[in-house]
Amino acid sequence: MTCNCCGAEEKSEKDYKSHWNKAFNKTDTNKLGWYEENAEASLNLIKKINLAKDSSILNVGAGATTLVDDLVALGYKNIIANDISSSALNKLKERLGNDSNKVKWIEDDLTNPTELKNLKDIDLWHDRAVLHFFNDEKDQNTYFNLINTLVKKDGYVIIAAFHLTGAEKCCGLPVHRYDEAMLKDRIGNNFELIKASKYTFVNPFGDPREYIYTLFKRIN
Ligand SMILES: C[S@@+](CC[C@H](N)C(=O)[O-])C[C@H]1O[C@@H](n2cnc3c(N)ncnc32)[C@H](O)[C@@H]1O
Repeated sequence: MTCNCCGAEEKSEKDYKSHWNKAFNKTDTNKLGWYEENAEASLNLIKKINLAKDSSILNVGAGATTLVDDLVALGYKNIIANDISSSALNKLKERLGNDSNKVKWIEDDLTNPTELKNLKDIDLWHDRAVLHFFNDEKDQNTYFNLINTLVKKDGYVIIAAFHLTGAEKCCGLPVHRYDEAMLKDRIGNNFELIKASKYTFVNPFGDPREYIYTLFKRIN
């Protein structure tokens, strides 16, 4: 059976890289179930923290998000886009055209990071719709350890994940859902929660998807 949000096979594939490459190759970007024309919930949080234009912004699991286009247009000069899928990053690069030179690209797996581990002093970690795909505790631990290693003191973390009241699957994969307290617990004591809110994203097929958006600041 194929997933109606991305055309991928509806099964838990162990080879996630090929799963995501297939999803991005098979379906036009604007017809993917998580595609948002305007990443307004993320942009509102980013505007709130008023980052300097030379801040390091790491967008993990960026996919083909329009947030990167917006950050370039806003004049941010140190944007890093990561994804496990080369197809996703290529779609984003194609859309950006010449502006793709303004972005640093890192194809790497958040649950087994190699190149990502070499980064440091990140001012903003941004994740929309990636963490919830990590169902194994080991993968979740790797993800949160990476945040604690890379984000600098006074830096920020935005995590937007499916809420406990949200969908149980996306792109044919089961998801691990969160609320504000769970994310606060998992990110640990180095971070203070600045803002948390529920947000309903209406996907390209008109289906509502409940998210929890959180903004944390590193205090230790
Ligand atoms: C639902 S999409 C969200 C894409 C984008 N953040 C957005 O909001 O449009 C999930 C993204 O996470 C990426 N991804 C999944 N597992 C990953 C991993 N282990 N490491 C890095 N990226 C991953 C997928 O390739 C895909 O682009």
